[in-house]
Amino acid sequence: MLTQIGRDSGLIGSEMAPEFARLRLLAAASRSASRKHEAGRNFLHNRLSGMQKQRIFISGVAGFLGSHLADAFLADGHEVLGNDNMIGGYLDNVPEGVEFYQFDCNEIDKLKQHMKGVDIVY
Ligand SMILES: NC(=O)c1ccc[n+]([C@@H]2O[C@H](COP(=O)([O-])OP(=O)(O)OC[C@H]3O[C@@H](n4cnc5c(N)ncnc54)[C@H](O)[C@@H]3O)[C@@H](O)[C@H]2O)c1
Repeated sequence: MLTQIGRDSGLIGSEMAPEFARLRLLAAASRSASRKHEAGRNFLHNRLSGMQKQRIFISGVAGFLGSHLADAFLADGHEVLGNDNMIGGYLDNVPEGVEFYQFDCNEIDKLKQHMKGVDIVY
C-alpha cells in the first residue's frame, strides 16, 4: 500500500520518507486504538460472562461509554435499561434491546422507580 501511495503521490526519493513515516505512525496509532477497544470488550466479557443474567441500569446510555457498555452486556445475555437526558447523546446510539427512558439523573423519583429490581448500576 505504501509503495502504491508513494507512486501515486508524485514524490521522489527522500521527499517520500516523511510521507512514509507519517503513514506508518497513522497505521500504528490505528492498530493501538483497536487493541485497546478489544481489551475493554474482553475485560467486560470476562467479568460478567458466566454470571447469572443481571438486570443492569446504565445512566447516560445514549452516550459513547454508556452505549458501548450496553452493547457488551446485551451480547453477554444481560438485561439492560438506562436513561439519558439527551444533552449530549444520540438516540441512534442506544442499542436495540435496551429499555430506554429519557429523563435527567437529578429526577430522583424517576431514578428510584427505575432502579427497582436492578442488580448493577453504572
Ligand atoms: N473516541 C471517540 O470516538 C469518543 C466519542 C465520544 C466520547 N469520547 C470520549 O469518551 C469519554 C467519555 O464519554 P462519555 O460517554 O462519558 O460522554 P458522552 O457525552 O458520550 O455521554 C454522556 C451521556 O450522558 C448523558 N447525560 C449527561 N448528564 C446527564 C444527566 N444529568 N442525566 C442523564 N443523562 C445525562 C448525555 O446526554 C450523554 O448521552 C470522554 O472523555 C469523551 O471525550 C470518545
